[in-house]
Amino acid sequence: MPTGLISDPRDRARALEVFRRHNQSPSLFRHALAVEAVMRHFAAGLGEDEDYWGAVGLLHDLDYELYPDRHCAKSGEILRDEGYDEAFIRAVISHGYGLVNEVKPELPMEKVLYAVDELTGLIAAAALMRPSRKLADLEVKSLRKKWRDKRFAAGVDRGVILRGCEMLGRELEEVMRETMAGMLKAAAEIGLDGRDGI
Ligand SMILES: [Fe+2]
Ligand SMILES: [Fe+2]
Repeated sequence: MPTGLISDPRDRARALEVFRRHNQSPSLFRHALAVEAVMRHFAAGLGEDEDYWGAVGLLHDLDYELYPDRHCAKSGEILRDEGYDEAFIRAVISHGYGLVNEVKPELPMEKVLYAVDELTGLIAAAALMRPSRKLADLEVKSLRKKWRDKRFAAGVDRGVILRGCEMLGRELEEVMRETMAGMLKAAAEIGLDGRDGI
């Protein structure tokens, strides 16, 4: 039930607190941080609001741990109860377009999220294949090779990524490069800086 609370979508501490209250999984947290970093990176490149885009990235899979069968729909309910506005909620749930809902990405922020969400998974998996286990040592060329190998990170839906690139009007390779650059900024937090045990 709505609490009457209002959350500032640009408040990162608040977003982190909401995420942690609904999630325990370290891997999902790393995914959230990776997508957050990439959203911030794209926002900066487009002269958009980095804090807002970052929060959309951080919270995009908010419901996935507890309500995987109601993915996105449940995030909408939780975020509404937590006092997030409808524009923010729409941005979050539009990454489920064609998968779990019909909320089509319309804004640049929504299209970027759609394109990069799955791609961060492929990049993380490819980085961990480097001898150094460092994202900094991954090149686009080798990522493209992993992309073509359908058995590699088979759970990563390449079709969704391509649809996202098409929506953005950007080439896959460019989106790969920018997504890697965004993730690199958070490499330590997301376990891709070569240190073991993360
Ligand atoms: Fe998701
Ligand atoms: Fe995700």
